[in-house]
Amino acid sequence: MKILVTGAAGFIGYHLSTKLIEMGQTVIGLDNLNDYYDPSLKQSRLKEIENNIHSSNFTFIKEDISNNENIINIFHTEQFDIVINLAAQAGVRYSLQNPYAYVDSNLSGFINILEGCRHNNVKHLIFASSSSVYGMNVKQPFSVSDRTDYPISLYAATKKSNEMMAFSYSHLFKIPTTGLRFFTVYGPYGRPDMAYYKFTKNILEGKEINLYNNGEMKRDFTYIDDIINGIVNILDQTPAPQDNKHSLAKPPYRLYNIGNNRPVTLENFIKAIESSLGIKAKRKLMPMQDGDVLSTYADIEDMIDDYNFYPSISIDEGINNFVRWYKSFIE
Ligand SMILES: NC(=O)c1ccc[n+]([C@@H]2O[C@H](COP(=O)([O-])OP(=O)(O)OC[C@H]3O[C@@H](n4cnc5c(N)ncnc54)[C@H](O)[C@@H]3O)[C@@H](O)[C@H]2O)c1
Repeated sequence: MKILVTGAAGFIGYHLSTKLIEMGQTVIGLDNLNDYYDPSLKQSRLKEIENNIHSSNFTFIKEDISNNENIINIFHTEQFDIVINLAAQAGVRYSLQNPYAYVDSNLSGFINILEGCRHNNVKHLIFASSSSVYGMNVKQPFSVSDRTDYPISLYAATKKSNEMMAFSYSHLFKIPTTGLRFFTVYGPYGRPDMAYYKFTKNILEGKEINLYNNGEMKRDFTYIDDIINGIVNILDQTPAPQDNKHSLAKPPYRLYNIGNNRPVTLENFIKAIESSLGIKAKRKLMPMQDGDVLSTYADIEDMIDDYNFYPSISIDEGINNFVRWYKSFIE
């Protein structure tokens, strides 16, 4: 199959592209290599793909998904079987300072992806949504049947918008579509803007680590390999038209949580990093940040029922893998 992976130089996109080429798929990786975080990390990921023995299955295109004309041309020329949209402006806190980056990539960019799928007979569109759509919902674990009308950041609002835009296109143009709400993904080649990366870096450098809301938070941290296995399992399982008790519309559209289903406190997560590094962290207690949620917890029953999805990597194992990668990377 010919698969478009947008955001291919990003954390999840790099791991997914690697897995897909190793499975023998033909992958077109697209990314604008923006500088939201150090672009040299994105280049390193691409270099890793280049060095993979299956790299002949991979072609990289440097492009911005918000560039309407170029994206439409790429879809027309390449005729993808499957499209996996991971390109987005990520990060909750940054959306308070740079709202337009979210509008450009997550809204304008996303409509170009939908239009490309609409006009080129794409057999399956898979797109990244986020646990942030649950905002500060009271009921836990978070289930896809829960209401998600209360986003507490613009990032979350754009991800919720993606789900609604994709639903309408799936209904109108019968595009088989699967949305995945990722829950705090971590692992080697991870994102420097995320807490686990900053904690590891600061602890190793003898600096303080900032614990927002005094560390009183819980996250359903999910190891990258579990996420990638989840995505790969659904690739050729296109959703059938879905009954919906709230609406007569029956688009071939499904939405899933993809998380570890075992939330841990920030304190226990830090303890896992400390024990892996063999160094005690210097904790600095900080107030809650705007846009942050207190806790996340994925209900993954649907993923289990439909795709036999069972996350298998424990926090200790996952953190050890990350720390091992981080130390060798900075060297
Ligand atoms: N990592 C997580 O914990 C997490 C959790 C929930 C959802 N997500 C979502 O998963 C997807 C991948 O996240 P990630 O952690 O790999 O982030 P990432 O920032 O590492 O990867 C995103 C990639 O997309 C690229 N990109 C951004 N805007 C673009 C544009 N307009 N055109 C082309 N490329 C563009 C970036 O350069 C980057 O390489 C994103 O949609 C993100 O919102 C991630």
